[in-house]
Amino acid sequence: MIRILQLTDLHVFCESDQRLKGIPTRETLQEVVAWICDKEAPFDHLIVTGDHTHDEQADSYKAVQQILSPWSDRIWQVPGNHDDREILRSVFADRISGQNADPVRFCFADEGWLCVGLDTHLPGEVAGRIEPEQLNWLRNLIVESPKSQVALFLHHPPVDVGSEWMDRIGLRGRDGLQQLISEESRIGLVCCGHVHHEFESQIGSAKVYATPSTGIQFNPAGAVANFAADAPGYRVIEVGPEGFSTHVVRLPEVRYAPVAD
Ligand SMILES: [Fe+2]
Repeated sequence: MIRILQLTDLHVFCESDQRLKGIPTRETLQEVVAWICDKEAPFDHLIVTGDHTHDEQADSYKAVQQILSPWSDRIWQVPGNHDDREILRSVFADRISGQNADPVRFCFADEGWLCVGLDTHLPGEVAGRIEPEQLNWLRNLIVESPKSQVALFLHHPPVDVGSEWMDRIGLRGRDGLQQLISEESRIGLVCCGHVHHEFESQIGSAKVYATPSTGIQFNPAGAVANFAADAPGYRVIEVGPEGFSTHVVRLPEVRYAPVAD
């Protein structure tokens, strides 16, 4: 069995004390990291599913790199809407292959599982997009690993999440991804960010999960964006020959409540 931690939607600013709707996102990320170091069992991989920063500045990415440095040998990343591929790639050059604005994606195999990160970033948009080229890339990886179970990691969820305002900024081109997941029964697990709260759904035989942010939490209710006074969190995923299990961990205290602008 291998243990994977998913962190998502860090939204760090280059100014260390800058807040997002009242939430000091750099501080909450540091609190999550301190909690993991102190309380969490050892783990094999750390996957960040996008929105590393809120302002997409190089200094913000460097701050994220420094905060996550305990796991610089096991970090895997995909971008969110609040990311800049070129800056993300340049700061995490040791871990991200490709050049310039190429898709930021990953693939690794461990304990009979093929873990694949997909890039859904669509420059200039809050919504995401998955292109046929990337679906072909994914399809080929799966064919080349005929005995593996498959887990996918991406920022934008490939399903509606029951939130009117969030579903307006979802994943374009998702029909092709849904079809691939439905047709390939070895894809058992799909883990996403973007929605900033815990959510569970299903495509075919695959479970789809969204994970709380390490910073600000969204409230899915309502027609416009609104925020929840919930604690920062992350997801634990354990995979092995028998399948997988997963759960969300939230910090025990709500130290900061969101505020209106
Ligand atoms: Fe986000």
